[in-house]
Amino acid sequence: MGGALAIGWAKSGNNEITVTARTEQTLSRFAGVDNICTSTDNREAVRGADVVVLAVKPWLIEDVCRQIAGNLDFSRQIILSVAANIFFDSLREFLGCETAKVCYIMPNIAAEYGEAMTYLAPEGGFSAEDTSIARDLLLEVGKVKVCKEKEVAAGNMLSGCGIAYVMRFIHAMMEGGVEMGLYPKEAQEIAMQTMKGAVAVLEGKNMHPAVGIDKVTTPGGLTIRGLNELDHAGFNSAVIRCLKAGLVITLPD
Ligand SMILES: NC(=O)c1ccc[n+]([C@@H]2O[C@H](COP(=O)([O-])OP(=O)(O)OC[C@H]3O[C@@H](n4cnc5c(N)ncnc54)[C@H](OP(=O)(O)O)[C@@H]3O)[C@@H](O)[C@H]2O)c1
Repeated sequence: MGGALAIGWAKSGNNEITVTARTEQTLSRFAGVDNICTSTDNREAVRGADVVVLAVKPWLIEDVCRQIAGNLDFSRQIILSVAANIFFDSLREFLGCETAKVCYIMPNIAAEYGEAMTYLAPEGGFSAEDTSIARDLLLEVGKVKVCKEKEVAAGNMLSGCGIAYVMRFIHAMMEGGVEMGLYPKEAQEIAMQTMKGAVAVLEGKNMHPAVGIDKVTTPGGLTIRGLNELDHAGFNSAVIRCLKAGLVITLPD
């Protein structure tokens, strides 16, 4: 996730970025990328930065926070954490500073292509100016919704995790296409272009999907047959259950 953000921000050309990882092997992915330099030294990397992004697995956040805390300027630096379900009170505790400007964000991997959907929950001591800086930065890699921490969970399921669900749908379309005699590559191209087309119509006409579906459904036609098969198989219910599956984790009050 951190790599996708870094590459997205590097492409915008507005930022000087230092990416860290534990191993040089991971960092080799960024060799030669404009506007990115790399380091295995977290403490050095945060020195002088305007914005620090924490993008390690949730169970590693505490260690990394404690490691860098001594080198952070809490009066100035903004800290954004993408770690799922690590909220600002824990982040402040890990950093050992009750006034740290730290905030939970939830992007997705489309950041690399400027198409992320990011939730930004600026409750951790962010001023209006800090929020604006973080929002502008995240707008460089896609759309941004500023919200409360407790609202991030639903957004995460729809976008952070949701990107995988959308890919699963594309994959399922491919499997259907292959059964009907298409080669996988061709089926993937068709499924992806159809997905883009559906989004273009909904956005272009500011349309509810039910209206779009109605427009392409002829009485007694082919589309309604397929749609009804999806209903018989519990498609909507499966999607709703899929999205709610991630809400079992305890949320802050
Ligand atoms: N994946 C997603 O789609 C997604 C979406 C939204 C949010 N998130 C959040 O993003 C975070 C990272 O997830 P991920 O899937 O991107 O994990 P990942 O692929 O394992 O990447 C984590 C990176 O952290 C580096 N790292 C580990 N320990 C480090 C340390 N002490 N100092 C510096 N770098 C260190 C690793 O480098 P090495 O390879 O060298 O060990 C690795 O490159 C998680 O907290 C997750 O909740 C992920």
